[in-house]
Amino acid sequence: MALLPRKKRCKGIPTSTVSQDHLGRNSPVGEVKFGEVGIFLVERRMGSSRRRFLTELARKKGFRVEEQMSESVTHVVSENNTGKEVLDLLEKRNGISRTGFTAALVDIAWFTESMGAGRPLEVESRHQLQIVLTPHGSIAGVFSRGKKKSVGEGRNQIYSGVVFLHVTREAVAVTEVSISSYACQRRTVLKNKNRLFTEALKVLAEAAELNESEGRYLAFSKASSILKSLPYTVTKMEDLQGIPSLGVHSRKVIKEILEDGTCSEVENILQNERYQTLKRFTSIFGVGVKTADKWYREGLRTLDELRASNVKLTREQEAGLLYHNDLSAPVTRTEADLIKQIVERAVHKFLPATVVTLTGGFRREKEFGHDVDLLITHPEEGKEEGLICQVINWMTTEGLILYGDITGNSYKGRSKDPGIFDHFEKCLSIFKLKKELVNNLESEKLSHCDSLAGDKTRGIDLADHTEAAQQVTVAAAGSKDWKAVRVDLVIAPYSQYAYALLGWTGSRLFERDLRRYAKHSKNMSLSSHSLFDNEQNIFLPAATEEGIFAHLGLEYIPPRERNA
Ligand code: CTP
Ligand code: MN
Ligand code: MN
Repeated sequence: MALLPRKKRCKGIPTSTVSQDHLGRNSPVGEVKFGEVGIFLVERRMGSSRRRFLTELARKKGFRVEEQMSESVTHVVSENNTGKEVLDLLEKRNGISRTGFTAALVDIAWFTESMGAGRPLEVESRHQLQIVLTPHGSIAGVFSRGKKKSVGEGRNQIYSGVVFLHVTREAVAVTEVSISSYACQRRTVLKNKNRLFTEALKVLAEAAELNESEGRYLAFSKASSILKSLPYTVTKMEDLQGIPSLGVHSRKVIKEILEDGTCSEVENILQNERYQTLKRFTSIFGVGVKTADKWYREGLRTLDELRASNVKLTREQEAGLLYHNDLSAPVTRTEADLIKQIVERAVHKFLPATVVTLTGGFRREKEFGHDVDLLITHPEEGKEEGLICQVINWMTTEGLILYGDITGNSYKGRSKDPGIFDHFEKCLSIFKLKKELVNNLESEKLSHCDSLAGDKTRGIDLADHTEAAQQVTVAAAGSKDWKAVRVDLVIAPYSQYAYALLGWTGSRLFERDLRRYAKHSKNMSLSSHSLFDNEQNIFLPAATEEGIFAHLGLEYIPPRERNA
């Protein structure tokens, strides 16, 4: 489909709202309407292009924005910095002593809310970057601290001040879309309008991960994620103005793709022997970057060479190598549903009221996955203890499991400083799935779909998926009548269930930003077990995911919009 121009007048929309360049470029700086307020935008972590964009936006709306820090500044606005960092910076760069400092130190939220309102808003405590004084008078940890209150009322809340024109076939509508630098404040569905760029950035992120370069990995992942959330396809560099989380390197990649169709750096990586080999080795269940790199340095290149070598493999890696073919084939939605049914039947043999939930990518409505993630809980807390051993033993004797490794619960009471890994009892396993059962469930779904006469879209959709699913199954088939499938089983005590569900639904980046947001914006510590409020010194219990978002003062994002 050809792209429609993004800026166009149309019937039904007041001309005044579309007559200006939506990014405010080349528009005359508006008259100062709020002279008593002087804004200084801190460039650190915001970046120069975003700072420039926000400056223009504010000036257009009648705000006074100062390029330099001065006495006439009343509001120092920063993004993703703590109060201490801002004060340190002002001291170092501008020689401003922190004791004689009178301007308000505010988070970007104050700025964007003020832009949305069209006037400078009162600074609430949630906007302020807090400063904690230690007994010695020095500044310790400083974070902006929000009230437990939703950040915005409606979906048109702006976080960054970026205003998009939504173009549909029928009409052009002006909508304000929220673009936060936190993935947990963005709605990211699976449909991605910028695949050309996100696929390239994904390769760069993977390469960085294989080089154990965490910073670069994050930078490319964030850039890719922000593009996934855009409601339009990027066709020129101007489309990226004012968008957060896009570093110089990522912008360079996008520019090159816009100009040449490809990015030479990405092409080179794809041809790189080390990249190819490490990708191959880390695709084996149980093999991480360090091991893959070691094998590469020992001269190994292919799976056959690995099989023929005398390197010592763990039990997990042995299974991973043995079933590598099956495990590399995508897991279909039907296979995931079937495995959930099988596990449900098995746990109910021992404890009828046990609840099994499909989490991970499938809960985010992905059609294919690399594994099946199941969360298991029991309404009577404590009943779930020991259940996994019984179930795995029984399934193994029934021939349903090829490999299983149970890790016990290592949760030592609630921790205020959660690590990135959870401590639930879990089993990383490989199931032996009968293809006949998959085909039966597939036909069942199809006939159910046929009976949904009138609902055409759905029928077509499902038929498409079924065809794709069958192709996948055939490709992975060989001559055996079963398929090996990776399954993660996680056991959560009922009181931690909502946190476990949120933590295991993903995506990886969404989870990371939830924790980052909790820490930096709320001074709270979030894990898959609990949420701790570091200021009130209390744990905040939650029975549902909605409850957790509410504790964090975040608008609820359903799983299908967490594909960041
Ligand atoms: N997760 C976790 N601890 C782990 C492994 C995973 O908390 N040790 C969480 C991650 O947040 C992740 C989710 O569980 O988002 C699911 O993990 P995974 O199966 O690796 O990813 P999916 O998003 O399900 O992707 P795929 O479809 O490839 O399986
Ligand atoms: Mn998964
Ligand atoms: Mn998993």
